[in-house]
Amino acid sequence: MSSSLGLSSDVVAYLAAANPPEHPVLARCRAETQALPMAQMQISAEQGAFMQVVARMLHAKRAFEVGVFTGYSSLATALVMQDMHGKQARLLACDVSEEWTAKARGYWSDAGVGDLVDLQLRPAAETLDQRIAAGEAGAYDLGFIDADKTGYDSYYERGLTLLRQGGVMLFDNVLWSGRVADPKDTTPDTLALRALAGKVKADPRVHAAMTNIGDGLLICVKR
Ligand SMILES: C[S@@+](CC[C@H](N)C(=O)[O-])C[C@H]1O[C@@H](n2cnc3c(N)ncnc32)[C@H](O)[C@@H]1O
Repeated sequence: MSSSLGLSSDVVAYLAAANPPEHPVLARCRAETQALPMAQMQISAEQGAFMQVVARMLHAKRAFEVGVFTGYSSLATALVMQDMHGKQARLLACDVSEEWTAKARGYWSDAGVGDLVDLQLRPAAETLDQRIAAGEAGAYDLGFIDADKTGYDSYYERGLTLLRQGGVMLFDNVLWSGRVADPKDTTPDTLALRALAGKVKADPRVHAAMTNIGDGLLICVKR
């Protein structure tokens, strides 16, 4: 099971028991994704629970996600948005994989949130640019970024434009299994994650905190 960085299996089990039970379709998405070769890409259950609380704190009605995979994080968010806003809720879901998102579509449908999700299959920067051009700047409450790390800066800039004041953007994997703290690691993904962390820390447009939830979750609130 994917879990937060550095936690023992006992602590992961304690967290699972302490949090509200997963929606049955979320539990099935997690279980079935474990059989896939790229299963470690899925967020942890405790991260999903955290994201649901963030969505509720924001009273989020409109959200975007970059990096859908088999749909766990999008389903977690959509369930809470639907609970608060019914059919008015909207989740823009960006990915490039027909194969993985076909599974996500099945889970969204089975959980009754299929009508809320607008899946766009093309490089996410293009989709976000289209939404900005369509006049959606400032229209989103929440964004979750969990895709190619070298694209994070472009998603940060586009996401900030799309968010309303007080809206929140979450960046996954910012600790990169600890590799960001290894100065010898100068691979493009690690460099991109370090550059984003430095930029966000100095950026007056946001109030941000880097946390060790999951594989590191950078929380940015738009000022
Ligand atoms: C780590 S997985 C996302 C995991 C997902 N959030 C979950 O909860 O299971 C990363 C996803 O990003 C997608 N991706 C990679 N590059 C992309 C790009 N340029 N634009 C949109 N999606 C991309 C991949 O196809 C993959 O599904």
